[in-house]
Amino acid sequence: MRSAFLLFVSLALSVTAFPKQHLRRQDATLPATVPRKDPNPKARAAAVAARDEGFIYGPSLIGQAAFFPNGTLGNARTQHDMDLWAIDRATIDGFVAKDVEAVSAALAANGGLKTIDDYAKVLYEGQWKNSNPRGTSPGIMTNYTQDLLFSMERLSLNPYSLRALKRHEPLPFQVDSKVTSKVAGASLKQLQDDGKLFFIDYRWQANLTKTQMEPKRYGAAVSAYFFIHPRTSDFLPLAIKTNTGADLVYTPLDSANDWLLAKLMFNVNDMFHSQMSHLVMTHDVSEAVHQAALHTLSEDHPVMLILERHMVQGYSARIVGEWLCFNPDGHWDQLMYINNIGCRDYVTDTWPTLGRYQANYLHPQFEARGLIDKHGKHPFKSFPFWDDATEIHAGYKAFFKTFVNSYYPSEADLAADHEIKNWFIEATKNAKVFDFPKTVNKDTLIEVLTHFGFLVSVGHHALNGGDPVGSKATLPFHATALFAPVPETKGVTDLLPFLPSAKQAVHYIAFIASFNRQFYQNDNRTMINAYVDDPLLARLNGPTKKAAQTFFKSMKGLSNKIRARTFDKKGLSNGVPFVYRALDPDFIPFICAV
Ligand SMILES: *[C@@H]1O[C@H](CO)[C@@H](O)[C@H](O)[C@H]1NC(C)=O
Ligand SMILES: *[C@@H]1O[C@H](CO)[C@@H](O)[C@H](O)[C@H]1NC(C)=O
Ligand SMILES: *[C@@H]1O[C@H](CO)[C@@H](O)[C@H](O)[C@H]1NC(C)=O
Ligand SMILES: *[C@@H]1O[C@H](CO)[C@@H](O)[C@H](O)[C@H]1NC(C)=O
Ligand SMILES: [Fe+2]
Repeated sequence: MRSAFLLFVSLALSVTAFPKQHLRRQDATLPATVPRKDPNPKARAAAVAARDEGFIYGPSLIGQAAFFPNGTLGNARTQHDMDLWAIDRATIDGFVAKDVEAVSAALAANGGLKTIDDYAKVLYEGQWKNSNPRGTSPGIMTNYTQDLLFSMERLSLNPYSLRALKRHEPLPFQVDSKVTSKVAGASLKQLQDDGKLFFIDYRWQANLTKTQMEPKRYGAAVSAYFFIHPRTSDFLPLAIKTNTGADLVYTPLDSANDWLLAKLMFNVNDMFHSQMSHLVMTHDVSEAVHQAALHTLSEDHPVMLILERHMVQGYSARIVGEWLCFNPDGHWDQLMYINNIGCRDYVTDTWPTLGRYQANYLHPQFEARGLIDKHGKHPFKSFPFWDDATEIHAGYKAFFKTFVNSYYPSEADLAADHEIKNWFIEATKNAKVFDFPKTVNKDTLIEVLTHFGFLVSVGHHALNGGDPVGSKATLPFHATALFAPVPETKGVTDLLPFLPSAKQAVHYIAFIASFNRQFYQNDNRTMINAYVDDPLLARLNGPTKKAAQTFFKSMKGLSNKIRARTFDKKGLSNGVPFVYRALDPDFIPFICAV
């Protein structure tokens, strides 16, 4: 069990203390200026031209999506970011190694994993104390067989795949009407007509290349209905269809084992979706937009300071992905069902849609999937992701309103900023960002910056980073693959063969734990601190400094609220049988981080 893991930790670089000055690239102390206010416009233009030449748009990494920086400056940037990342990596790997030792001892004492309960107990209770000191989300390990937990995960832990079925579209599959009337008190058609029927489609995963490595792994490519119950208004699962082999439709009326297996099969597909979509939606997009800025904005531009702050070690992630995750026979191939080739194909296939800039702004994105109306109202009893995400989004927007208005009192002031104008042109023309605004005014700039801050913090850490190890990636409910073939008939009696071996399980948890950055709380690298870093703030103007304090206070307030969450009399927390805390602004970083 340990040997597989040692391979992983042995790559850690030996770096010790965290050099604070590496947090930012700009060591300058002069106030940030827009071009028109720069006392030395010639030198500034020359510096911008030198950067334009020194950064080259090189080939994409991990599939065909955003360019990756090449050129003398590009390579220096990548090296710098890798050096920074390596420090965090050494820290987390040290923690994980200790934890693997402890959990290995617990497994040995228990004689391995003999029941499904062992997965939740032996693998987690009192374990991963160093790498995940927050522990698992309260409720997630005890309530995972509940339908409400499974369905509400679609409105919290991965809110990016669910959509409402429109009134007139053909139903993707049929469910026995006796079943729907018993489970939902209505027919599929009635639910659809009332706007209460929802769908998740993972059929496309059938076409992606699967791993060939041992141990043998399996999966379906499920599609699933969820619904709002006409009487209770609870959001619940209705059916899961396998779309492979025997093509079975599972429902809550099946035996407990069959239905749990169906949910496990769903979760295997969902894991692929959440982890791979985060790469495209956040890493690729932020890198592409930032590269356009590297080619056009001065290092002294206030917008550049902000972008750099959100891109600390940003160019390490895809290098690390190529090196350790998506390399042939790497961690991904060892653990997951779809292999690294399937991952790359997914990135290439989805970049033109998930990579779209404006279409993926928070409100349009969720409205397009029918989860909110045009006023931002949702139809659910509770929508945990939406509550926290919109509060953070509003925090960013308030900050950037002040920021943009303070640097550009009038539209004419902004129109006079040729660097910003060039950045917008560059983003579409050379960085090939899809759907970036073609022209700029103050409102557009506020939205562009709000989305950027939102993407690298909320967007990234909703799906990846430190939350999965204690929530959406916990065993036995959220596995990387099935370890026995998808059944041809219902009536499965034993779920154990479908679950990972102890060796696989520990490798998986260790891998997911290595994405945690819980120690960012200790040195002000969490989202609440995005703009209150002294050297950064010192270079920004007075109104921005004030807005940064407001951002800090309001986001700290949200963090306190999230940390105080507990269960009500019904055993629910904001309508969910576990505590949702993925977006705690004093836990998540203001950068993609990993
Ligand atoms: C990076 O740029 C250099 C110099 O322009 C070029 O020789 C090299 O082929 C490029 N590398 C890639 C991977 O494109
Ligand atoms: C969920 O789990 C928590 C912690 O184990 C428990 O207090 C709560 O009652 C459970 N909720 C439900 C609905 O079972
Ligand atoms: C899978 O690929 C085949 C062949 O290209 C295509 O006909 C089919 O529609 C694809 N299925 C999905 C679900 O994308
Ligand atoms: C974090 O910020 C607080 C003020 O907000 C400061 O007192 C503390 O020293 C900072 N910690 C580190 C490690 O920089
Ligand atoms: Fe990431």
